Amino acid sequence: KKSVRDVEVAGKRVFVRVDFNVPLENGAITDDKRIRETLPTINYLVEKGAKVILASHLGRPKGQVVEELRLTPAAERLSELLGKKVLKADEVIGDAVKSQISDMQDGDVLLLENVRFEAGEEKNDPALAKAFAELADLFVNDAFGAAHRAHASTEGIAHFLPAVSGLLMERELDVLGRALQNPERPFTAIVGGSKVKDKIDVINKMIEIADNIIIGGGLSYTFFKAQGHEIGQSLCDDSKLELTKDFIEKAKKLGKQFLLPVDIVVSDDFSASANTKIVDIDGIPADWEGIDIGPKSREIFADVIKNSKLVVWNGPMGVFEIEPFSHGTQAVARACAETSAYTVIGGGDSAAAAEKFGLADKMDHISTGGGASLEFMEGKALPGVVALNDK
Ligand code: 3PG
Repeated sequence: KKSVRDVEVAGKRVFVRVDFNVPLENGAITDDKRIRETLPTINYLVEKGAKVILASHLGRPKGQVVEELRLTPAAERLSELLGKKVLKADEVIGDAVKSQISDMQDGDVLLLENVRFEAGEEKNDPALAKAFAELADLFVNDAFGAAHRAHASTEGIAHFLPAVSGLLMERELDVLGRALQNPERPFTAIVGGSKVKDKIDVINKMIEIADNIIIGGGLSYTFFKAQGHEIGQSLCDDSKLELTKDFIEKAKKLGKQFLLPVDIVVSDDFSASANTKIVDIDGIPADWEGIDIGPKSREIFADVIKNSKLVVWNGPMGVFEIEPFSHGTQAVARACAETSAYTVIGGGDSAAAAEKFGLADKMDHISTGGGASLEFMEGKALPGVVALNDK
């Protein structure tokens, strides 16, 4: 795809879609990674003398103005990070926005209001896409995190303007693309998380392309039950029992190493003060629930990670937000941090875990996309990328 580096930007009005969908607590941003990661693109455009018009969604306001979901805190944080004033529009489109843009000087940065305040955004309404396009001369998509959405500001607008990728988008596609197409081996994929149904396609794909597939987290209990183990109160999706058997069968046929936990931490209550104990997978008491992988599993998984050349990790091994249930996820994060393998962390929960354990800067690449990196790893085309101009 064409990149922002391949086109003339000086003096141009550039509509840059970013993903500033950041976590907020009482109006304060608790993790600004997604904002920090867009700085190379924004600085590049500022230095080249473009007029930078930024657009993002925040949360899911469903086509209405929701005061708590205004992008004002993001504009303030961006301004601190850039060391430069960031203009903020109070609306997404309209005459006030147009006049703010016509007052911009080369090198100015303006952030539009939350694009999901407009009902046309998620519907990918061509009228809204056209209205966005009329604000600018060029479209730059740097919102990898929202690239799996075919919305007016991620996909629709690309039909009305020259459309290129930003520097963050380029890096995400490059790193994740290399992992899929030309992986260094042994290649280990770690798939965790709570629900089998969210990870079906990625497990399937990883069985095909990885050498080792490590499974952990809530979704592993469906595998255990299908193998005839008693899982007590653990999470389970009974409609996926056969599917998990097929996965194991397929991995065996392809000669892949398919690893499930051999021991787990069980708990009698879903809270930090619960009683916990470590049991083998055939020792889960009927009224207890599995909430983390046990120490033997941590060791086995860490060993595989250590002996890999490429590791892709998506989804936690347990309920890592609660301290007594966090050790399995922490062990995997630590193994990823310590291995000499190239480590790619899918966004969302695994990225949050790496951050929580203070290991984020030891990973080679932490994606800014949760759903987007998952869909990419499933081998799906991302509409926000497909719509960009080819080189
Ligand atoms: C994300 O956080 O994964 C992206 O910003 C997309 O958000 P969405 O799931 O609300 O479309």
